[in-house]
Amino acid sequence: MSKEIILSGIQPTGRLHIGNYLGSLKNFIDLQSNHDCFFMIADYHSITENYNPKLKQQQINDLAANFIAAGLDPKKCTIFIQSQIAEHTELAWIFDCVTPISYLERMTQYKDKALRQQENINTGLFTYPVLQAADILIYHATAVPVGVDQDQHVELTRQIAKFFNNRFGQTFAEPKTLHTETPKVMSLLEPDKKMSKSLGDNHCIYLDDEPEVIAKKISRAVTDTGDGKSSGAKNLLDLLNNFSSADVYKKFSADSEKGTLKYSELKKQLANDIGNYFADFRTAKKKIKKSDLDQILADGARRAQKVAQKTMAEVRAKIGIR
Ligand code: ADP
Ligand code: TRP
Repeated sequence: MSKEIILSGIQPTGRLHIGNYLGSLKNFIDLQSNHDCFFMIADYHSITENYNPKLKQQQINDLAANFIAAGLDPKKCTIFIQSQIAEHTELAWIFDCVTPISYLERMTQYKDKALRQQENINTGLFTYPVLQAADILIYHATAVPVGVDQDQHVELTRQIAKFFNNRFGQTFAEPKTLHTETPKVMSLLEPDKKMSKSLGDNHCIYLDDEPEVIAKKISRAVTDTGDGKSSGAKNLLDLLNNFSSADVYKKFSADSEKGTLKYSELKKQLANDIGNYFADFRTAKKKIKKSDLDQILADGARRAQKVAQKTMAEVRAKIGIR
């Protein structure tokens, strides 16, 4: 892959789980050494859902600490908070004015969330993908690493780039989507649904769960009688493939082919390997100082804003607003 401009974001809405890690954060870490990367804490997106304002700063700091503890290096990439770069919302407004309502009405995430929070179907929830397009295009990003659930939003971003270019002249390249090998991790308790913190804590393994908590959660995971065919069994095997050694994975997949898989053994092994995998992460996270995080985010905002301001100057000139 030639050098790309990468942008992605995660909403600060609570603890990060292994679905977030395998679906996005791990990919960020792999990309930062060879590309020009921007990683953003999407706080403005997060206020489209019901939330407690008293907890928001803590959620932002926790996500920043997760980024650093997991291995994002502020020397290699730009880490910043979305709301600190006012140009994102400015560009989102301009994109609102080239995006047909019918395109937003098709967004499945909007439809799902509108069902989930019927008492709060706010306009921000509806125009959410337009702000996401602004996040991406303001850095002229060429690639966006996300989980499969975000594909439709990146597709819309390409569409918005086209609408803008057609109306005002070539300005934005159309970014591509990047997936990891395991883009969709399923819930431990309801393996037909994706792992999501909105389902509840026992459905998820959080990156900072202590080993005994991991063991307890995995011991309760839903499986089948040993043929490895159910979605729950497949999910555990996929996790083993990510967090255990190749030999261990090979042994358990062979057992499942033969129909002799012992889930008690698999679960013990998996819990142990996930606990070990995140041991350094847990230690690093406990050591991070708030003052260091503040410094990293202030530097990141400065770097991001420089690029964002340049894009906005170009955009304003093109649309005839000075
Ligand atoms: P949650 O559903 O737990 O609230 P978010 O919607 O905040 O998670 O997702 C943040 C990022 O993690 C997104 O890039 C999303 O694509 C990815 N992601 C979320 N859940 C999963 C999952 N179960 N498997 C893979 N990736 C996921
Ligand atoms: N909507 C994304 C999510 O919920 C978060 C996000 C906001 C994002 N802006 C982005 C992801 C830009 C990629 C690019 O996961």
